[in-house]
Amino acid sequence: MTASRTLGSTGPRVSALGLGCMGMSALYGETDRAESIATIHAALDAGITLLDTGDFYGMGHNELLINEALRTAPAARREQALTSVKFGALRTVEGGFSGYDGRPNAVKNFAAYSLQRLGTDHIDIYRIARVDPDVPIEETVGAIAELVEAGHVRHIGLSEVGADTIRRAAATAPIADLQIEYSLISRSIEAEILPTLRELGIGVTAYGVLSRGLISGHFTRDRELAPGDFRGMSPRFQGENLQHNLDLVDALRKIAEQKGVSVAQIAIAWVASRGEDIVPLVGARRRDRLTEALGALEVTLTADDLAAIELAVPVGSAAGDRYPTNQMAHLDSER
Ligand SMILES: NC(=O)c1ccc[n+]([C@@H]2O[C@H](COP(=O)([O-])OP(=O)(O)OC[C@H]3O[C@@H](n4cnc5c(N)ncnc54)[C@H](OP(=O)(O)O)[C@@H]3O)[C@@H](O)[C@H]2O)c1
Repeated sequence: MTASRTLGSTGPRVSALGLGCMGMSALYGETDRAESIATIHAALDAGITLLDTGDFYGMGHNELLINEALRTAPAARREQALTSVKFGALRTVEGGFSGYDGRPNAVKNFAAYSLQRLGTDHIDIYRIARVDPDVPIEETVGAIAELVEAGHVRHIGLSEVGADTIRRAAATAPIADLQIEYSLISRSIEAEILPTLRELGIGVTAYGVLSRGLISGHFTRDRELAPGDFRGMSPRFQGENLQHNLDLVDALRKIAEQKGVSVAQIAIAWVASRGEDIVPLVGARRRDRLTEALGALEVTLTADDLAAIELAVPVGSAAGDRYPTNQMAHLDSER
């Protein structure tokens, strides 16, 4: 894979697909360490340079996993890898989430621990996962800007924020990208957020491109989820909502079959087709899923394909919110 895209007017050049590593440590059921590391290695071999993580994914587990994968990769691959790290989420001993901390000293404390766990001397893109409602975004971004100044961080990113916060952050320091959910069934960024990012020269790293597997073509109507799997609480995976959403996937499957590609490839290619400023992150946890995702880069969607996709999955056609109610409340992007 040689395709690459630049994140915003000030951000780094990265592979046209990024690898999201969250599911290798948490939220999607059982994990397999050896397969996770093999998947990261295969991604690096295929030319993926962007690895996305969060310090709270498995409470440090994900960063340590990336550390091991980078340490055991050939030096040339390791040197090309860029880390995108989220911080700010507070955890409980039981594994719950108890809020967000974006105070400047906390930001620097989070960064110190992440650098230690990753085993690197800098983080390429650093962002707070959700805005701390008690701390102005200028203070949080200002603290990351100081980390940039000191050489510990290269670029500043944002996550799940709306147009107002984007403007305030961009007035504080150069912002490389906004990480936000964007897929065929999560299109709320199109109204205001995407135009604001484009006006300000900020890129997008799109997550949930497969809606956490829901529109991957592999999610079955009777799939049993392990306790603690995020999808067990997600409105889109419940009862009638799930059946409705999988009907949309069946409509998409017909288009995929006609093109001789997979549903996941159509879904990833669709996000990639929305603009050169958008880099889809894929949450592949296994090498076979990664290979499928990489195949999306070879898929060209014609105007006819795009029209058929739009008809199969019209804007706003998904049933259910993208997060449970209590988590929707943390999304500055949905206000
Ligand atoms: N900023 C934020 O708020 C935020 C929130 C969530 C995630 N993220 C980041 O975005 C990344 C991607 O998000 P995500 O993992 O939720 O999204 P995703 O890519 O929409 O979903 C990943 C899930 O889809 C399934 N899948 C089926 N076919 C696949 C294929 N060909 N390639 C990849 N996955 C396939 C996988 O499960 P099976 O293999 O079991 O089918 C996997 O667990 C995360 O890893 C994380 O780094 C950021």
